[in-house]
Amino acid sequence: MPSADVSNRSAVAVVGLGYVGNVVAASLAAAGRHVIGVDRRPEVVASLEQGRAPIREPELQERIDAARALGTLRATTSLEEAVAASCASLVCVGTPLGDDGKLDETDLLAACEQVARAVPAGREHVIVIRSTVSPGTHGRLGAHLASALGAAFGQQITLALNPEFLREGSAVADLERPQLIVYATEHDAAARFCEALYADHAELLQRTDPASSEMLKLVNNAWHALKVAFANEVARAAAPAGVDPFAVMELLCRDTKLNASAAYLRPGLPFGGACLTKDVASLSAHASRHGVDAPLIGAILSSNRAHLEHLVEAVLAHEPKQTAIIGVGFKPGAPDVRDSAPVKLVRELLDRGVHVTVADSAVLDARVPPLGLLALQQALGDPRAQAAPTVAHAVAGADVIVVGHPCRADRDAIVALEPTVPILDAGGELTRTLSDAERERLAPVVLIQH
Ligand SMILES: NC(=O)c1ccc[n+]([C@@H]2O[C@H](COP(=O)([O-])OP(=O)(O)OC[C@H]3O[C@@H](n4cnc5c(N)ncnc54)[C@H](O)[C@@H]3O)[C@@H](O)[C@H]2O)c1
Repeated sequence: MPSADVSNRSAVAVVGLGYVGNVVAASLAAAGRHVIGVDRRPEVVASLEQGRAPIREPELQERIDAARALGTLRATTSLEEAVAASCASLVCVGTPLGDDGKLDETDLLAACEQVARAVPAGREHVIVIRSTVSPGTHGRLGAHLASALGAAFGQQITLALNPEFLREGSAVADLERPQLIVYATEHDAAARFCEALYADHAELLQRTDPASSEMLKLVNNAWHALKVAFANEVARAAAPAGVDPFAVMELLCRDTKLNASAAYLRPGLPFGGACLTKDVASLSAHASRHGVDAPLIGAILSSNRAHLEHLVEAVLAHEPKQTAIIGVGFKPGAPDVRDSAPVKLVRELLDRGVHVTVADSAVLDARVPPLGLLALQQALGDPRAQAAPTVAHAVAGADVIVVGHPCRADRDAIVALEPTVPILDAGGELTRTLSDAERERLAPVVLIQH
């Protein structure tokens, strides 16, 4: 079969002319691509056919005018007609929240199947899902199309995810000047189509796997929602203290190193140390004292405890009799064991009958309280927990090794010892730094976060 013309010369169908579909169709067409918009609502199609933007959005009418001048944009209610004239369908139908609390993907699944069935015999077609979908949709849809289409799926008809991150109110600008474009596919023709479609933004184009693409879109919006809810809780907590919350949040955002930044956004061990737990508890107590409902701030410490419990269960799943825990500072490179998650892990394992030995040369080297061996023994608070002088001593006899926050020397010592027992990398710090050669020499390293 000849490969599809996925170059930007061939027309594309945009299925679903709501917010996203209108903006995608008009923007592509204004850039010179032939676009056939499809919607089952005749009034939306008529509006676009007459050159009027069906929705109000800055710059949208200008894009439609430009597309009409070029003769690159038309619309129809006939999906079959649009698919027959296109090499790909960008599916932008709605996926609203259903009564069961899940995304209702009825329209999406129906539209994809309709597209697949409308592809003329012997022609190739790429289905690109631009709608927001829930984790697992790509797999379910792929299985469904494979059983409906047989061998044609993956050959003639291919599938990609390409989540859209635009915001209403600045949709055209967001679409045309993105920060990041993500796509995922298991099919070569679909990958070639996405790469050609976004050739002008090649440096922003990121390929990932389908499940990550699905998750990313939901996590993005959860993150935005979390920020709004947090700022509003700060406002409610600030009021009784007579504090201006706008000024506080403005100052918070001024610190682009620690606050409005990527700092603290990598999964790993639970937080700890001398300050975070204490100050979160203090802010939560302040809110309670003043009768302010601040469930988000109040839930931070229980979320942290849940993460510790997850780590404990992950270690116990290996049924260890003796565990070595390497790196017990509260964060990477810190010889300070106050409120340290690895230390809490030691105590939890001891309570569940596991023998534990601990090694951390950075902690042992530190002389000044609250650092050093004494501080470690105090923090462990249990004579059954043995602080070993070296990593080699700690891992001798252990049937599981847990990597916490190791200093560089201890990390190197683990690798050099080439242990044959499972290594559980609790925060991902070992996995991140392993070279390919080191990885080959070590027994499988299990990343607990997975
Ligand atoms: N609105 C946003 O700001 C935004 C931003 C990013 C992503 N998204 C996601 O993009 C998707 C689309 O969002 P929207 O706001 O544009 O939705 P919308 O509900 O405004 O529009 C969807 C359109 O699809 C049409 N449609 C449904 N099934 C069809 C079919 N089989 N054939 C032809 N037309 C069909 C409907 O008639 C409707 O006009 C959703 O998954 C949404 O979560 C939305």
